[in-house]
Amino acid sequence: MPAKIVGLGRAVPEPVLTNHDLEQRIDTSDEWIRTRTGLSERHVAPDGVDNSDLVAEASRLAIEDAGLTPEAIDVMIVATATPDTVFPSTACWAQPKIGLREIPVMDISAACSGFLYGYALAASLIDSGRAKRVLVCGAEVLTRVLNWNDRSTCVLFGDGAGAAVIGTGGADEGLLAHTWGADGRLAELLYQPAGGTRQPASHQTVEARLHSVHMQGNDVFKHAVRTMSHASLAVLEQAGISPEQIDLFVPHQANIRIMKAAADRARIPMERCYLVIQRYGNVSAASIPMALADARAEGRLEPGMTVLSAGFGAGFTWAAAVYRL
Ligand code: UT7
Repeated sequence: MPAKIVGLGRAVPEPVLTNHDLEQRIDTSDEWIRTRTGLSERHVAPDGVDNSDLVAEASRLAIEDAGLTPEAIDVMIVATATPDTVFPSTACWAQPKIGLREIPVMDISAACSGFLYGYALAASLIDSGRAKRVLVCGAEVLTRVLNWNDRSTCVLFGDGAGAAVIGTGGADEGLLAHTWGADGRLAELLYQPAGGTRQPASHQTVEARLHSVHMQGNDVFKHAVRTMSHASLAVLEQAGISPEQIDLFVPHQANIRIMKAAADRARIPMERCYLVIQRYGNVSAASIPMALADARAEGRLEPGMTVLSAGFGAGFTWAAAVYRL
């Protein structure tokens, strides 16, 4: 029973912060941000809008898109690095907002690889017969964990959510191949130092701005290019599919240069790479499902198409998948 995406939805908070807005606040330029990252603007959740609100909106749209009602969902997985609260999970906060039954709901923490981790878990639940339909949502409110004085990180990220209902498809549909991995030895290259139990919130942690994203951008960049390329090639080989047979490459959207390098090494021309970084920035776990929903809305993604996705993020974690809609 191939685990197939049968519904997609995405949600973004309305307020938009452009590169030109950022030029007024910090020592940066639209030109630097666009040429180094590909980003022009990002959405920013206003006060009162929680991650779980974005999860709920994207999920409701995905369920509706699948032609279902919330009662039809058997399990819900939220992939996020920016949960509403440390506990309970963002999935628990979102559950009543969506109107789901008393089903198991949980968060997974795999940063930018979270959606593809969630897809694999959903496929396993479906394969094992434990669930028929799994809602997988990648959602982030990253703008709340940024140091707005650190120009090397604050210009990069945005807020949003993308959701997919994973159900069962016919032969030759759904998840055709998947690979995933992690290397925790590199965790300190990209992390949020305080706010967990190692360094709980204190005046010192707040003053030292330890509750924000800390990233060694250059190192992350090199690992991202290498790992996303390897994972993409591995999953194509596993699926027995050539790059020419990929209709659309929908990678995690952290940096246009990373995506170009990964597409290049996987021998997929950029015309077949779908980009949303310019309008959303890096939305971590949300980037792939948001891109899928937008690609479908724009007519770039149609039933029967074969898609390659690859993700890389904090941890480090990575994953890649070949799937057919
Ligand atoms: O989501 C998954 C994980 N995240 C990623 O995959 C992100 C990976 N990393 C990157 O995308 C890139 O490393 C960045 C976009 C973060 C940085 O790009 P870079 O080409 O690696 O720039 P850099 O850090 O080497 O900085 C180059 C210069 C520096 O100035 P000097 O030392 O050459 O004078 C920085 O101070 O650019 C400067 N700079 C800026 N200038 C204007 C850094 N940030 C900015 C800024 N505006 N916002």
